[in-house]
Amino acid sequence: MDSITVSDLRKYYGQVKAVDGLSFSVPQGEIFGMLGPNGAGKTTTVETIVGLIGRDGGDVAVMGIDPAQDPVGVKARIGVQLQTAAMFPRLAVREVIRLYASFYPKNVDEDEVIALVGLQEKANVQTRNLSGGQLQRLSVALAIVSDGDIIFLDEPTTGLDPQARRGLWDVINRMRGRGKTIFLTTHYMDEAEKLCDRVAVVDRGKIIALDSPQALINENFQEKAIEFNQPALTADRNLSGLPGVTMVQVEDDLIILYSSEVPKTIAALMEYSQKAGATVDDLTVRTATLEDVFLKLTGRRIRE
Ligand SMILES: Nc1ncnc2c1ncn2[C@@H]1O[C@H](COP(=O)(O)OP(=O)(O)O)[C@@H](O)[C@H]1O
Ligand SMILES: [Mg+2]
Repeated sequence: MDSITVSDLRKYYGQVKAVDGLSFSVPQGEIFGMLGPNGAGKTTTVETIVGLIGRDGGDVAVMGIDPAQDPVGVKARIGVQLQTAAMFPRLAVREVIRLYASFYPKNVDEDEVIALVGLQEKANVQTRNLSGGQLQRLSVALAIVSDGDIIFLDEPTTGLDPQARRGLWDVINRMRGRGKTIFLTTHYMDEAEKLCDRVAVVDRGKIIALDSPQALINENFQEKAIEFNQPALTADRNLSGLPGVTMVQVEDDLIILYSSEVPKTIAALMEYSQKAGATVDDLTVRTATLEDVFLKLTGRRIRE
């Protein structure tokens, strides 16, 4: 059985279609990611699936249970970490975890939870004295105390430095290793690419692509990306006619040429830019990423 099944899910706020007809399912044990910019509808999707808010249309089943019919039944099977988790500044890490554990009939041993999120050395420290990364670990800990089958994490690494983010990825992988299903939202491309088994790319309340990160990239790009900054060429239509170039994207002063024949394209670009009196120097060649997929599908970049 799938852990989560969603079909044609809708949630409107007046004119705003926050969630506009989402359909997907998440098999047990998967790390499923929703990747999209601010306002795409990620938090609203989580809130409707876990039953925190009602939906305006569609069907949802969480471990076979409809959150609109049986919110308590759903709550007993999941753990949720929300973006706006409130902490208790004067309680120690261990005390907050114990408090949350007391809300649930079934729960994970508090030392085990503390070890899982790597907060052993901070167990007796008041939460007001934790760093941002440690607070995020604590909020993930609170999502797992209930020993739910599915853990929902809403942008768990937003605002963290790269090291703290990687630390949390380890925590999430450990949870999956224990057979949990992880439903995660993020606006970080690299996070979705490295961590998720499958990614739903969302924009304006709709899924615009859904597959494994590598498949999303392969489906959209056989080409490599050649990037450079040259303000004088951003409006130059001729770039798309250079040999090997299949697509051109311009983002402020940054120009990206997608090319299936990189050496030929670069040689032609050098010659062309010299003639145009706009020398190209800071040029990089890279394989396509999810960022390119998003740019191709929406014409925009995800910004922080
Ligand atoms: N309680 C609310 N009232 C009105 N509009 C809302 C509310 N919550 C979210 N929205 C709107 O719905 C859209 C999706 O928001 P949200 O789900 O928070 O996106 P994300 O989490 O991807 O940033 C946005 O346009 C947002 O302004
Ligand atoms: Mg959000």
